[in-house]
Amino acid sequence: MRKILVTSALPYANGSIHLGHLVEYIQTDIWVRAQRFANNDVYYICADDTHGTPVMLRAEKENISPDELVNMVHKEHSADFLDFNIRFNNFYTTNSQENKELSEQIYLTLKNYNKIEKKQIEQFFDEEKNMFLPDRFIKGSCPRCKAKDQYGDSCEICGSTYTPTDLIDAYSVVSGSKPIKKKTDHYFFKLSECSDFLEQWTQSGTLQQEAANKLKEWFKAGLTDWDISRDAPYFGFEIPDAPGKFFYVWLDAPIGYMASFKNFCQKNSVNFDEYWNINSDAELVHFIGKDILYFHALFWPATLKYSDFRLPDKIYAHGFLTINGEKMSKSRGTFITARSYLDTLKNPDLLRYYFFSKLNDSMEDIDLNLDDFLVKVNSDLVGKFINIASRTSGFIVKYFDNILIEANDFTDEDSISYINNLVALKKEIISLYDARQYSKLTRLVMSHVEVINEFVNKREPWILAKQDSQQQMNSDLHEVCSTALQAFRLISIYLAPVFPGLVIKIESFFNDNFKSFDQVELSAKTITKYEHLLSRIEQKDIDAMINLNLN
Ligand code: MSP
Ligand code: ZN
Repeated sequence: MRKILVTSALPYANGSIHLGHLVEYIQTDIWVRAQRFANNDVYYICADDTHGTPVMLRAEKENISPDELVNMVHKEHSADFLDFNIRFNNFYTTNSQENKELSEQIYLTLKNYNKIEKKQIEQFFDEEKNMFLPDRFIKGSCPRCKAKDQYGDSCEICGSTYTPTDLIDAYSVVSGSKPIKKKTDHYFFKLSECSDFLEQWTQSGTLQQEAANKLKEWFKAGLTDWDISRDAPYFGFEIPDAPGKFFYVWLDAPIGYMASFKNFCQKNSVNFDEYWNINSDAELVHFIGKDILYFHALFWPATLKYSDFRLPDKIYAHGFLTINGEKMSKSRGTFITARSYLDTLKNPDLLRYYFFSKLNDSMEDIDLNLDDFLVKVNSDLVGKFINIASRTSGFIVKYFDNILIEANDFTDEDSISYINNLVALKKEIISLYDARQYSKLTRLVMSHVEVINEFVNKREPWILAKQDSQQQMNSDLHEVCSTALQAFRLISIYLAPVFPGLVIKIESFFNDNFKSFDQVELSAKTITKYEHLLSRIEQKDIDAMINLNLN
């Protein structure tokens, strides 16, 4: 049995969960559920990422304190995750006592290792707001193409990158005033000294090959020291012995993985050190989007290494979601929030299945094509998978008192081989889940769904039910329908991690409780009367969802 601590990246507390985020949380949740079905011991941990300038400024704009904003968003995010059947063991916050203590402890250890350095730098400062301005809060004209209103780090028109001091006619996004340049002391993590360790660690199998290759490019360019401090006013943790200086949000955010787990451990009598000690025998697995690879593959392992904690075993990076082939866009109504999906399409399992059927272990972007979504879900799930049960269960109820023939008692050669083939898939299914080869897994399982449907087409239970000989009808009809339903049960167990809501209905159809892939070795004995399991998606609901997001 493996002991695994799994995380998804911590969503920022300054906005709503959208379908792009869900690519990550759904794939991680499926992976976690599948590991549990493979009898492994898994904790799944997350939290809101609360600190930084955007949260501070949004709270100010809404006339509430950052703490109030963070609490409000935490409620919203928690409900979104719950309603998408994403089940963390703990969904916590980085704005916690546990995180403050761990961040301070880690910082002080880094300092002991002589990995922290104080340097004077020059930054833009907003005299009206009395605050230093991060790159994203300074705009001006591009030094190269002169396009107006470009951010302090890069030009969206000509694509050139530069530093904010290069901008022409720079202005503060916060107040509109012209920023001045001001000197200030910042604290740096000497990342450049960690090159050897990181170069070796990032090429040691922890990352996907394409991520490892990306890293090689960064090493070639050379690692620079990492600025981990920000000046007040800043919503975050004050640095010990440095009044007015705060940890940059990206220092305490990944420590939030540990802090959330620590909070969980305290509430559930789990041993924190067993998971985070340098010689822990548990696995640590992070799921992240490709945009935050730099933080997780460089800053984070270096932080852990020089604060005497264990390192991650795997960093699984995924690509970005596009909708109808394009970046999500507010003006096209494709910046779709989790809540607007639930309000219109209702069933989270449909999106879970769609993402599942498209995901693999690469960093390629994945596309949600809304026409394809409708067709695929309706035809795969309703038309093929659920159809197995809906077309055969009536006969079992009507003629056989709800009682199924168990697989061991089958006499028909086809029946025996279909069930044996499905049971034999167990190992492959477990390893496809583990390797995040979800689209391959979908194709494999769906090919068996088709085989079973063809078997039912060929054996025509509706004709068998009209046979003259009562005896013959009994044995043939009973075994054909039992075969289909026993197969339906096995397929449901294999896909249980994908659609947990639907599975609850299937479990009660079989008077069963699915917990482990090992249950494919047993048969169902009875069914209950077939109740409608799943509805088709309708175009009008998709249209309504887009409308909700148009603004
Ligand atoms: N707060 C940081 C993560 C800190 S982890 C210590 C952050 N937050 S986020 O809200 O912007 O994103 C959370 C996760 O969702 C990230 O892994 C990010 O890559 C992922 N996604 C956000 N938008 C996405 C898409 N459009 N598509 C796929 N994943 C996306 O980053
Ligand atoms: Zn430009």
